[in-house]
Amino acid sequence: MTAKRPVVGVFDSGVGGLTALRELMLQVPQADYLYFGDTARLPYGSKSAETVAKYAISAAQYLEQQGAEHLVVACNTATALALDAITRAMTISVLGVIEPGAANAAASSKSGKVVVIATEGTCNSHAYKNALGQLGVAAQEKACPLFVPLVEEGWTDHPVTEQVAHLYLDDIFNGDFASADALVLGCTHYPLLKTLLRRVVPEHVAIVDSAEATARYMAEKLGLKSAGNFGHPNVKFFATDSEEKFRKAGEKFLGRIIEDVRHVNLET
Ligand code: DGL
Repeated sequence: MTAKRPVVGVFDSGVGGLTALRELMLQVPQADYLYFGDTARLPYGSKSAETVAKYAISAAQYLEQQGAEHLVVACNTATALALDAITRAMTISVLGVIEPGAANAAASSKSGKVVVIATEGTCNSHAYKNALGQLGVAAQEKACPLFVPLVEEGWTDHPVTEQVAHLYLDDIFNGDFASADALVLGCTHYPLLKTLLRRVVPEHVAIVDSAEATARYMAEKLGLKSAGNFGHPNVKFFATDSEEKFRKAGEKFLGRIIEDVRHVNLET
């Protein structure tokens, strides 16, 4: 008899969280996944904590009703602004991306100084700064609001995006944080900019991907670190805006064909 596969719900404001799902499928192939993209109500990055909490809780509860046994909040903004509220509203375990991302950054920094890039909402909450501070690491947070639309446009290796990255980051790595030796990608979309950012930030700076760190953390949490042949995870997708738009935009983030998208209306 084969063991029952755990069902992990993954929640994000849209398709960006598919970067986290991609890592989870790689590092925890023993699980099946339910992915929820709140595409009708994004972006979360510029919304208030109350609105983000309300939206995120309704989506998380939907995933629980669909059979999720664990929840990963892949959205950095939802983790930063509403992780406690989401956790209180659920009966299943909830993991956000900030704690694993901060732990990974602290482990890779020797100078004790790191730079975090994220949405306005995540930066204004100082969730990364606080989590890193508890680990004895100083953080400089920098909101990079243009990165999300640039990535969604597909301009992940475009000169305009590179110029924008220089405008956002050059001063930071020149001032008080010239000795910073890690750059935390604190937004779902930023892993797609890794190659470009590698050219922009100084060579000694390690690029830390919160999605990757979260997948590793999840594997440990579920006690699923052992290697083996577990077959392919089953994945179902839910989106609050059009299925077709989700499929088209999502394939870039997930790096594979997306099938089985179901439209969900959370307003009714
Ligand atoms: N998913 C969001 C995050 O990781 C970025 C997109 C949005 O603003 O909704 O912060």
